[in-house]
Amino acid sequence: MPSLLLYGSYGYVGNLIAREAVDRGLDVTLAGHDREQLEKQVRELDRPALRFDLSDPVAVAGALDGFDCVLNCAGPFSDTALPLVEGCLETGTDYVDVTGEIPVIERVREYDREATDAGVTLLPSVGFSSIPMDCLAAHLVDRLPEATHLTLGVDSVRVPSIGSLKTVIEGAETESNVYEDGRLERIEPTERTRTIDFGRGERPGVAMPLGDVSSAHYTTGIPNVEVYAHVPRPARAALRVYPRLEGLLARPRVKAALKRVAGTVREGPSERARERGEVFVWGEARDEDGGERAASRLRTPDAYVVTVQGSLNAAERVLAGEADSGYWTPAGAFGPEFVFDVEGASGFFDDPTASTARRTAASR
Ligand SMILES: NC(=O)c1ccc[n+]([C@@H]2O[C@H](COP(=O)([O-])OP(=O)(O)OC[C@H]3O[C@@H](n4cnc5c(N)ncnc54)[C@H](OP(=O)(O)O)[C@@H]3O)[C@@H](O)[C@H]2O)c1
Repeated sequence: MPSLLLYGSYGYVGNLIAREAVDRGLDVTLAGHDREQLEKQVRELDRPALRFDLSDPVAVAGALDGFDCVLNCAGPFSDTALPLVEGCLETGTDYVDVTGEIPVIERVREYDREATDAGVTLLPSVGFSSIPMDCLAAHLVDRLPEATHLTLGVDSVRVPSIGSLKTVIEGAETESNVYEDGRLERIEPTERTRTIDFGRGERPGVAMPLGDVSSAHYTTGIPNVEVYAHVPRPARAALRVYPRLEGLLARPRVKAALKRVAGTVREGPSERARERGEVFVWGEARDEDGGERAASRLRTPDAYVVTVQGSLNAAERVLAGEADSGYWTPAGAFGPEFVFDVEGASGFFDDPTASTARRTAASR
């Protein structure tokens, strides 16, 4: 049976993935840099474990050697992705992760040629960011191949895990969050807002620096991509003051202090909250002058459920040899329908109004 190494296995998301991997009967080895936490998890899950940190490339390559695939859930991925990717290229191990960080996706993609030559698959962002929006993007470009602009949006009311908060704090100086004319450009938080019917009536959305911006750009080749999220009112107010705090948040000591504070809060959503969660995903593709448009929606279970199931669905398909070597996005590797491998995901719901606009424009 092909072997999977799960790095960051005792974090909030890592632990959920580890349990599901055991339930699926996968040959999974737990891994991370904290001996105590790993030993505790080994006692609970009765799986082998490897302790190594990522600062020594020789130790990383030594640990990865012999594994068919590594699934990285240790975030912020700005600290963990590249040492593991470089180890994978040396050992011929495939790499999968659940990053939602734009700069990480962009950096991993730079290894495309090297990975192709080494026969290694690099498949980052197979969590909630980016599977649903990436698959929706692929569906939209199938509907409107001449699209030049893609707008995606997500509406999910939920408290994130502490690890996700730490990643947001770490990425406070993120320099770009939309694609414009094929280039990543920075826009200020709250600079772009619009009202979107994500699937349960019109709601305000704010453009956000989600990894889906990069994934959707590479999946579709569309030069202009932006991603909106429905943000509840208190969070919108916080975003408005963000530009004034940005310099402060980027300072390493302030970041470290905030991460410590974040680490004292409840670790992540309860099982009940995950079971009840639901996410509405919307997207619209249009051509240069807006004459032709296509809009579609889909619905998924809670974002953490999608991350757990989606990342293991991706890892299993990589282990089965279903992904080519080189850098891939989720939909690029497995097609637009890949999102429906997640139990409870439904769609695509195509917007008849936008389709009509397209037909009208096309028949002129
Ligand atoms: N793509 C998506 O949709 C999606 C969904 C959910 C979460 N995420 C991301 O997944 C990441 C994990 O989330 P979480 O809630 O599981 O966070 P968490 O509970 O804080 O877990 C993070 C894990 O990463 C490990 N880690 C962090 N830095 C490390 C380093 N430099 N070397 C080795 N291990 C390191 C931590 O180990 P120690 O505690 O021992 O340092 C811990 O095991 C976050 O970045 C989050 O944003 C993405």
